[in-house]
Amino acid sequence: MYNNWEELENAIKGCKKCKLGTNRTNIVFGTGNKQADVMFIGEGPGADEDIQGQPFVGKAGQLMDKAFQALSINRNNVYIANIVKCRPPQNRVPEEDEAQTCLNYLRNQVILVKPKIIVLLGSTALKNILGDEYGITASRGKWIEKKEILYMPTWHPAALLRDETKKIDFWQDLKQMRERANKINLKY
Ligand code: SF4
Ligand code: URA
Repeated sequence: MYNNWEELENAIKGCKKCKLGTNRTNIVFGTGNKQADVMFIGEGPGADEDIQGQPFVGKAGQLMDKAFQALSINRNNVYIANIVKCRPPQNRVPEEDEAQTCLNYLRNQVILVKPKIIVLLGSTALKNILGDEYGITASRGKWIEKKEILYMPTWHPAALLRDETKKIDFWQDLKQMRERANKINLKY
């Protein structure tokens, strides 16, 4: 565990601790406010993220940005990261060993950011952070509190691209996040 960002960022440079390190272009570490009240966690970089080294900059990310804009959520006020930092081949779901290895970095990021709310984007984020007993269909839109962090699971933005009806849920879940954040004076 590293006590500051510089050490953590240095530690991840050139990481090859799991097999996803072999084919990546860039490590997608995370972006946004390093002291954010609200953090968003996705699955892993896609093709665009791999090229740019930034999370959620491709199609799914652009859709997320639209929702952010409509709900006055500012990307610069929140922190955005993924379960794995390197792109899985063909955007497949990260395998158990890859997620477990890379989670050490994410856990360290959470400790440094100290968010009050974490929005879990999709099944991979939900299961790796809260446990395999959780399913996204049953859990989305419901607050889960653990160790003084409030978790709001919702659909992954890429799921909205495949199924338009999920957009309504996604909006509602982010609205719930906003309402709770407003009540306890959090920035987003
Ligand atoms: Fe390292 Fe994570 Fe990339 Fe695997 S996915 S090589 S653990 S940074
Ligand atoms: N999907 C994710 O889970 N994360 C990204 O950064 C981009 C797409």
